[in-house]
Amino acid sequence: MKLIIINGPNLNLLGKREPEIYGSETFEDFFRTLQLKFETIELSYFQSNIEGEIIDKLHEVGFSYDGIILNAAAYTHTSVGIGDAVKGIETPVVELHISNIHAREEFRHQSFIAPVAKGVLFGFGLKGYELAIQSFL
Ligand code: DQA
Repeated sequence: MKLIIINGPNLNLLGKREPEIYGSETFEDFFRTLQLKFETIELSYFQSNIEGEIIDKLHEVGFSYDGIILNAAAYTHTSVGIGDAVKGIETPVVELHISNIHAREEFRHQSFIAPVAKGVLFGFGLKGYELAIQSFL
């Protein structure tokens, strides 16, 4: 089982960024605990602040991996291109958000990914990534 977590813009700042919303753990530390918890799974992680790099990564893994966990962050609400990429690949994508996007500003309620995703998880903090992995097992 080959899964990848793709995180979008500003998620490299997890741990420092708005900790009251996103928590105080860095993603690198959290990812290590995930790898230990799911050691039988080939789990990788990619983060980019650049829309085109996220699209390139979706193309690269989207015909061979078993699942993609995508937190496109702010691009979720703006990117027709990422939505089209998710639609164009074969690997199922779970859309994920750390925060409850529906309890926040109106502009965060819109997603270009949700209509073409296998499922959507939001509001469970970093634990959501664990739940997303379990959804593929
Ligand atoms: C986010 C929610 C988005 O609205 C926001 O732009 C992010 C993070 C989340 O994980 O809660 O950067 O995707």
